[in-house]
Amino acid sequence: MLSAEHNELLTRVGAGTPMGALMRRYWIPALLGWEVAEPDGPPVELRVLGEDLVAFRQTDGRVGIVAARCPHRGASLFWGRNEACGLRCVYHGWKFDLTGQCVEMPSEPDATNFQAKVRTPAYPTYEVGGVVWTYMGPPTRQPAPPLFEWTQAPESHRGVTKVWQECNWLQALEGGIDTVHTNFLHFGKPAPAARMDTGAVAFGAETVRGRAVNFSKAALVEVVPTAYGFTYGGIRRLPDAAQFVRGYHWIMPWTQLRGYSLDVEKPEVDGHMWVPIDDQNTMVWNFRYTYGTAPLTDDERALVGTGNQFGVDIDRETFRALRHKRNRYLIDRQVQKTQTYTGIVGVNTQDRAIQESMGAIADRRTERLGSTDRAIISARQQLLAALTQLEEGADPPGVTPEYYRLRALEQVVPPEVPWFAAMRTRLFQLEDEI
Ligand code: FES
Ligand SMILES: [Fe+2]
Repeated sequence: MLSAEHNELLTRVGAGTPMGALMRRYWIPALLGWEVAEPDGPPVELRVLGEDLVAFRQTDGRVGIVAARCPHRGASLFWGRNEACGLRCVYHGWKFDLTGQCVEMPSEPDATNFQAKVRTPAYPTYEVGGVVWTYMGPPTRQPAPPLFEWTQAPESHRGVTKVWQECNWLQALEGGIDTVHTNFLHFGKPAPAARMDTGAVAFGAETVRGRAVNFSKAALVEVVPTAYGFTYGGIRRLPDAAQFVRGYHWIMPWTQLRGYSLDVEKPEVDGHMWVPIDDQNTMVWNFRYTYGTAPLTDDERALVGTGNQFGVDIDRETFRALRHKRNRYLIDRQVQKTQTYTGIVGVNTQDRAIQESMGAIADRRTERLGSTDRAIISARQQLLAALTQLEEGADPPGVTPEYYRLRALEQVVPPEVPWFAAMRTRLFQLEDEI
């Protein structure tokens, strides 16, 4: 459980709130590069941490992000003209460069030189990994660029999408780092072979992950605090007593990496970033990549089957989920009776459905957390500690490059061997140290 006061602290992210200040100390994924593909192309509206913004790729290819509201009389710059290295408001022609400086003011007589005195809020951007990132914090505290290993992978080796989720960011994050719900919420496949009533195939017995999840309902969760957040293991027994460990990383404040495959040619990691649109809405970023030699297939790059595929699960224009609260996520109660736990198609659609059902901002005052909620408890504690750190003038965790080499992975560990000792070298890519 969490006090009402702590819940407020962790869930409110607007300008001037403590969590809002913390989040503004990180690079924030703002747009997919293809949303603003064209120099001098159409501006794009976005809302981040409760702020309405407009992005535009200017003539020289750089992306600007400015407040949506024109400082003259408040018209939206979304309707503006993106031309000759600046964005021009179509109400009275004022033009702004990507630093937010007004560079032309054709509606005022030249003699006033008023334009030199007018600025609009603007945020720096950094483009990597197919994503335009922005930084909304104090200019002198800009962190190291967001060079996660996935952002460094070639385009052929990664896929990234995003989807609008209709609830607060914290319950989305908590849903993501809660490993044990997989055994339940995501149980079953919509195929005739996967019949719940016979207790047959749940996750596909052809994979070790499937066998482990089928065999161990209650995972053991162990958290190891780190400089950037924590790494943690979801430990499940296999029938032969070996441990199947899903090794994860949580990187402050909203990124999770999960191991997916240790295929020799195509080892794979996937993950999410839960970025507040505002207090009651979250942009969930979904990515997967391989650090092997073989590229991902087109289906893998498109995140087919995850609940995060454009055109199937997500509207490409609005980034809204196509199966949502108002159409009841297209739940099929017959499928729920006979094939899958939820009757809802798409793993992450199931996540959205259940996380949104907790309310726009979950009330945590009366929850009853168990041992498998350890990662959630740790994340809250670390976020609260980071708020204190920030208040005391220190830099928060996760703004320096120590997360660049992190890799999540799954591994079968012999029965009596501690998982962290067995996996540490690969989780942190410490091979160079050996
Ligand atoms: S409101 Fe934008 S130029 Fe007047
Ligand atoms: Fe899930």
